[in-house]
Amino acid sequence: MNILLIGSGGRENAIAWKLVQSPKCDKLFIAPGNAGSQRFGINLPVSGTDFDGLKNAVLQNDIRMLVVGPEDPLVKGVRDFFETDAELKHVMVIGPGKAGAMLEGSKDFSKKFMFRNSVPTARYATFDASTIQDGYNFLETLKAPYVLKADGLAAGKGVLIIQNLEEAKRELHAMLVDSKFGNASSTVVIEEFLKGIELSVFVLTNGKQYVILPEAKDYKRIGEGDTGPNTGGMGAVSPVPFADETFMQKVETRIVKPTIDGLHKEGIPYTGFVFIGLMNVDGEPFVIEYNARMGDPETEVVVPRIKNDLVQLFEDTANLRLDQVRLDISTETALTVILASKGYPGDIEKGKTIHGLETCSDSLVFHAGTSEREGAIITSGGRVLAITSMAPSIEEAQKKSMACANAISFEGKYFRKDIGDDLKGVV
Ligand code: AMP
Ligand code: GLY
Repeated sequence: MNILLIGSGGRENAIAWKLVQSPKCDKLFIAPGNAGSQRFGINLPVSGTDFDGLKNAVLQNDIRMLVVGPEDPLVKGVRDFFETDAELKHVMVIGPGKAGAMLEGSKDFSKKFMFRNSVPTARYATFDASTIQDGYNFLETLKAPYVLKADGLAAGKGVLIIQNLEEAKRELHAMLVDSKFGNASSTVVIEEFLKGIELSVFVLTNGKQYVILPEAKDYKRIGEGDTGPNTGGMGAVSPVPFADETFMQKVETRIVKPTIDGLHKEGIPYTGFVFIGLMNVDGEPFVIEYNARMGDPETEVVVPRIKNDLVQLFEDTANLRLDQVRLDISTETALTVILASKGYPGDIEKGKTIHGLETCSDSLVFHAGTSEREGAIITSGGRVLAITSMAPSIEEAQKKSMACANAISFEGKYFRKDIGDDLKGVV
């Protein structure tokens, strides 16, 4: 069958790489893709939120499966658009509808959902401009650091963690009254700070059945030793050594199962990924957030460990056959390192020529922010490439990714050299 994949990042490069390995995939199209996705399929100059453009692409190319990478099209209702259009409703869509995507699209909705379904998460309260005084009072009942979250989508920037009470109050005012994050912060969730180690768990579900995919650890800060501003993610590792069987059992019974049951009970249809951001607090898992998609760069380490045919897995998801699926997961460690542009996550310069891409035979080089100019591959975003290596140990996987990261060059190249360091020797 022909498949259309929405997205243009490293996550979609990894999904595309995997989809085309399936004998079930005839032609793969990527909308809009990047320079690297052309290795796996045909790029279409259509944005993921241009639903009419997607419809044309589907009809012209006899597409039977739509795989949605990023959150924007999901929150805007791409699935609902397909389901309610007579010419599109035969297309299998991997990604939840608008109602399900609210798990990511509204922090207040997702916190309420967790409390209704007894999913462990931090204590919280929600405020808008008319209740800002209550917000100040609530902050006074909490201990530092203070966690303020814009309710809506804010391109990964809507969470503030603040040490000082007065500053937290000022930021609450900036979010609610001065629209610091535009409309996204007209409602703000304030929650208790959870102290622990973060990891992400990924679930593929049809709202009734589910499979738990490999977990991963993301490295969010720009600087080595987890310092400096937050980014989309500078690297990732899977598996995560401290996510042992006992811990993952708790994750399944306390979090995954009540989440899927909750969706079912509340009549929220859901076909696609649930990305559960977790905090391991002294061995106990708490949910920090849900996302309605896979993570980036987590996908670049999760997908290479899955040995199953991904197209088959998506079909089994959509056709309610997940109970018959046995996941076959590589026991090797996958480690990815992001090569970023100078200045990221702030202002960056684009258009730098990338050299040495062909030298990395021991690693998978997924493109994130790249495009083509006169036959050369150039940088076109903050995160440029994700270099994934597989090996029996974290040390070896890191060594391979470092060798490749050093072999590739472009002006202003920056990467963290400590991805996975904190997990070495951890059991
Ligand atoms: P989110 O966008 O909700 O994932 O939040 C971004 C980051 O803020 C998370 O990855 C955590 O590192 C941090 N964070 C969010 N909520 C909390 C919390 N309640 N306690 C501690 N850290 C948090
Ligand atoms: N790496 C975090 C995310 O995809 O949201």
